[in-house]
Amino acid sequence: MTNRWDRASLDAGDDSMLLECDDVGPGPVVVLLHGFPLDSTMWEHQKGAIGSRYRVIAFDLRGHGRSVAPEGPYSIDGMADDVIESLDAMNLTHPIVLGGLSMGGYVALSLIARHPERVKGLMLMDTRASADPPDARATRLELAAQVETARNTEPVVGAMLPRLFSPTTRARRGDLVARVGERMRRTPVLGVVGALHALANRPDRTADLARIAVPTLAIVGHDDVITPPTEMRAMTAKIPNARLVEVADAGHLAPLEEPGPVNEAVLAFLNTVHPTA
Ligand code: MLT
Repeated sequence: MTNRWDRASLDAGDDSMLLECDDVGPGPVVVLLHGFPLDSTMWEHQKGAIGSRYRVIAFDLRGHGRSVAPEGPYSIDGMADDVIESLDAMNLTHPIVLGGLSMGGYVALSLIARHPERVKGLMLMDTRASADPPDARATRLELAAQVETARNTEPVVGAMLPRLFSPTTRARRGDLVARVGERMRRTPVLGVVGALHALANRPDRTADLARIAVPTLAIVGHDDVITPPTEMRAMTAKIPNARLVEVADAGHLAPLEEPGPVNEAVLAFLNTVHPTA
């Protein structure tokens, strides 16, 4: 089913907004946040496997999927505020397990840094805590300008799609590569431009890692060239109660490319956070 909040009962006071989501399964809540410029469908293999024992809520972040794509500016902190507001609207104010991939991981790190009481377990997949270095930031802003000029997301598809997957996925899963490309093409131009600016301007969260007080699972594709294992290892080492799982034959989209080992690691982790679920 989709979201359970009642839009009419809400006071749309500030800049934040309610997000669309998939909401499946019984039990303790697990919130999943997708990468750029995708949407909640990237969790297709997790919804079934995890959703048999947990309530999986996969949000479409601002500007992506079925959620509204307003004019910018967007920020990673603002996207985290959208998640909090949406959970509040669903009356889910108790601590949740929070997972995010890449951009979703940046949003998750923002959320736990600013609302630690809302999180009882953290899953960081194919992501990083650091900000963009100046050259990466400039490339990002240039890409945003190209998308605005083209009035379509093709510049992003061309720049990102070849780098998202492992050599194994590219060789054997042309269907998956094509589907992800289509998903990227469907993301609204305003959403892509807004998110690129948010990514370029995001703060460095490295200093917050030592303050993460909840059990943390980190997952990275062995062949991830966007957020590589070396970087994920260094990040995980700074989180007090964290474990890193490296997934063979996966690139930047490990949950889509190799769902079997990802789901196994996630379910084992959830079992430690919720031993009685
Ligand atoms: C993502 O997958 O969300 C992006 O690769 C994030 C980024 O480019 O930093």
